[in-house]
Amino acid sequence: MTGAETLFTNICQLVTPGVGVQRGAAMRDLTVIPDAAMLVSGGVIHWVGPRAEAPGTAQEHDLSGVAVVPGLTDPHTHAVWAGDRLADFEARVQGVPYEEILARGGGIRSTTKATSVRTESELAALTLPRLEALLRSGATTIEIKSGYGHDFDEEIKILQASYFAETEFIGSVVRTLLLHVPPVEGRKDYVRGVCEQLIPEVASENLAAAVDVFTEREAFTVEETRAILQAAKTHGLQTKLHADQFHAIGGTELACELGALSVDHLEASGPAQIAALAASNTVATILPGVTLHLGLPAAPGRALIDAGAAVAVGTDLNPGSSPLFSAQLALALAVRLCRLTPAEALTACTVNAAAALGLSDRGALAPGQRADFLALHSHDWRDLPYTLGASPVRSVFVSGTEL
Ligand code: NIG
Ligand code: FE
Repeated sequence: MTGAETLFTNICQLVTPGVGVQRGAAMRDLTVIPDAAMLVSGGVIHWVGPRAEAPGTAQEHDLSGVAVVPGLTDPHTHAVWAGDRLADFEARVQGVPYEEILARGGGIRSTTKATSVRTESELAALTLPRLEALLRSGATTIEIKSGYGHDFDEEIKILQASYFAETEFIGSVVRTLLLHVPPVEGRKDYVRGVCEQLIPEVASENLAAAVDVFTEREAFTVEETRAILQAAKTHGLQTKLHADQFHAIGGTELACELGALSVDHLEASGPAQIAALAASNTVATILPGVTLHLGLPAAPGRALIDAGAAVAVGTDLNPGSSPLFSAQLALALAVRLCRLTPAEALTACTVNAAAALGLSDRGALAPGQRADFLALHSHDWRDLPYTLGASPVRSVFVSGTEL
């Protein structure tokens, strides 16, 4: 139906945050229009308002009296991987910490091993159903990171696999180059190569829009991260960070200083990191699936919003720390585990998650925005944050087309 003009009618509640990133208390300012209609043309929203005021049009699509919200953005996934982490899972639930498994050569390093023996097309075939599960859960835009490569060729293979999966996928994908864990030996040369070889190649081949680094005791140091992010900026790429997942070693402060799009995780953030994020334009992306799966403390979502930060929520879909295939469930968990209100959680998963990817053309139901939206099973949008374990999403529309 893209291209045609369609008036979507019989919307019991049309619910939307404002256009663009929302900070602090503004995250709670949703507009709720009862008995609404929405005019879509060429995949873009042209008008929203009360049904009684709708402009005349040729074609109507009756949504049968349910609530409509914007399509969600999942701003943080590691959706390209092979192998599994089932043995890690069993060890962890019996008390072995995630970081210890990684330090012993398991964890991310074992996924890297399993991923390295797969071809691009095998990896793409593993990835596509994961994207489709996220889409059915409401995520019409999904970020995919690399990060399970032993070397530069393997990181590029993962980005290409993600591109292949993307070409088969009806939703939008944004690719990110992730530097996940440095090699056991030769890390100085590795970091130099990342800056002088890998990043220039990724930028010139348009393989990713952003560069992300896992800044942590068992991964990259703050100084290594600084060099990598600066190289990314030099080559015109956006920057993001995995920071404060286990220890607040300075990654958040660095990302804010360098104007990163987002800092993700934040489970170990304290008052200094919260203040740095609140004083910056960097989005604070929280990942409640990790809290649930690893049993970590929750990221301080409530304190971040109260301090005035812009908070986004993602699934962090990956085999080790968050096997969470539902953006709706991430939203619902952010309310329970990170103390967001339902309205804040909707904003976090829509306009703010898009802003965490540098996108301002989606996430709100307003003229000029992409017509990516969800029709729920319910007449009340709050079933979206409320429901656990069954999908409250009845149908997903991408650019005005129903899946
Ligand atoms: O976001 N912490 C680093 N990276 C991922 C985990 C990846 C993995 O365990 O395979 C994360 O949690
Ligand atoms: Fe992650």
